[in-house]
Amino acid sequence: MNYPLKNKRALVTGGSRGIGAAIVKRFASEGADVAFTYASSPDQANDTLQVAQALGVQALAIQADSADASALVAAVERTVEKLGGIDILVNNAGVLAVGLIDNFTLADFDRTLAVNVRAVFVATQAVVKHMKEGGRIINIGSTNAERIPFSGGGVYAMSKSALQGLVQGLARDLGPRGITINNVQPGPIATDMNPEEGEFAEMLKKQMAVPRYGTVEEVAGMVAYLAGPETGYITGASLMIDGGFSA
Ligand SMILES: NC(=O)c1ccc[n+]([C@@H]2O[C@H](COP(=O)([O-])OP(=O)(O)OC[C@H]3O[C@@H](n4cnc5c(N)ncnc54)[C@H](OP(=O)(O)O)[C@@H]3O)[C@@H](O)[C@H]2O)c1
Repeated sequence: MNYPLKNKRALVTGGSRGIGAAIVKRFASEGADVAFTYASSPDQANDTLQVAQALGVQALAIQADSADASALVAAVERTVEKLGGIDILVNNAGVLAVGLIDNFTLADFDRTLAVNVRAVFVATQAVVKHMKEGGRIINIGSTNAERIPFSGGGVYAMSKSALQGLVQGLARDLGPRGITINNVQPGPIATDMNPEEGEFAEMLKKQMAVPRYGTVEEVAGMVAYLAGPETGYITGASLMIDGGFSA
């Protein structure tokens, strides 16, 4: 068995369900000790925790709403304390509010920015205090940062585009310290956020070169690669995994 992430310590935000849960499991299967946050799904968080622990690594589930900066910083500190340090941060927690400009509420606007953008800054800032050379920071952005061929997604798209500027700038801050920071930008992936059946899903499938939804495991594989030892020269990048949605 190959364990490329053995002796690494990771924190994944939003690890109870969907893409985040798949990343937690993949990291554990590659030998990393892994902490993850969740907000409102304790049962699913517990399921993810059990799977990770059964793979023989140290695992930790921490309830922390990403919109609450002090809770998120406390989650980072708890991870460092329990796992003895931190080598990998995955900013995965995200929300999607869809609505036309006429009706989109300021509350949804603020929540989208708080979880999808501000929390990425907050967690990254807290983590880099502890991260050493070889550290890896990976944000889950979206192909919608570059292409959004349907109405009602403007604020979500903006939140994911913001991460492109953020990683380009932070790559400059962190490169001299041997820490990389990148975005992984999925296309439609089958999760609670984006179910693969129904009218909306069929419309999206028509936009793709590979006319199907991606799986959470496919995204987790790409994140594990970026978290691994071979990617020290990839930084400031926004990398698509979207079945050609943006092609
Ligand atoms: N699915 C797609 O097609 C797709 C495509 C491109 C990008 N993405 C991005 O991928 C990421 C994961 O999406 P997903 O499809 O896996 O979504 P999902 O199925 O809705 O799962 C979201 C995860 O994030 C957590 N979360 C949500 N709000 C949170 C908050 N305020 N604080 C802490 N955790 C929070 C949830 O935890 P609780 O349930 O415990 O609250 C859950 O574990 C998001 O950033 C999303 O924008 C998804």
